[in-house]
Amino acid sequence: MHLPQLLLPLLLPLLTTSLPQPPSHPPSLSFSTTIATIQIQQTLALWPLAVDSKNYTLLPLIFTPTAFLGSPPPTGNFIGIPSITAFLTLFLNNTLTQHSYGTQYIDVDIERGTASAATYLIASFVGTGPSNAGEYLVNRAKYEDELVEGEGGWRVVNRTLVYMVPTVGNLTA
Ligand SMILES: *[C@@H]1O[C@H](CO)[C@@H](O)[C@H](O)[C@H]1NC(C)=O
Ligand SMILES: *[C@@H]1O[C@H](CO)[C@@H](O)[C@H](O)[C@H]1NC(C)=O
Ligand SMILES: *[C@@H]1O[C@H](CO)[C@@H](O)[C@H](O)[C@H]1NC(C)=O
Repeated sequence: MHLPQLLLPLLLPLLTTSLPQPPSHPPSLSFSTTIATIQIQQTLALWPLAVDSKNYTLLPLIFTPTAFLGSPPPTGNFIGIPSITAFLTLFLNNTLTQHSYGTQYIDVDIERGTASAATYLIASFVGTGPSNAGEYLVNRAKYEDELVEGEGGWRVVNRTLVYMVPTVGNLTA
């Protein structure tokens, strides 16, 4: 039997989320909302590129200065780019990552200059440090994002991570 199958019964009680709810209406795809949707996709795509390359100087192109980044415990919540940067620097030290987006739904309110997005995620972590080399972990989750349009373009004000199925793996710090 494969290890993930053995672990599944142990991990299932850790699932705290309810089933994801589909949008209540189809996307509006006028010219202006289509342009905004692509701009938002580009903003959101910078997150895997920044995190996986550990280039946190890109974060101001993704988040507003006081943005909220929320994750289920034990990771917790971070407010503001300096706090998010400090978290990533510590948390991803000794770790190679790949954040891969999947299904994505973006809902733009052009008049208000706001948008919400749901983005499925598979995140893979592999340890590279002295105490965790070769250990791995895979999260299958969804980002729930709230964005605002500012002078520099669309930025995330709230990114909240929601796990969808049990985490697989054994990565330690
Ligand atoms: C980080 O990304 C910025 C913007 O693309 C780039 O100018 C800079 O050289 C990158 N830094 C590193 C260390 O790769
Ligand atoms: C990252 O890990 C290395 C090796 O364990 C350690 O020497 C270094 O201090 C760590 N850096 C941070 C920012 O925690
Ligand atoms: C961010 O959004 C989540 C829902 O996705 C919500 O629970 C949380 O309160 C929001 N945080 C802030 C600071 O608005």
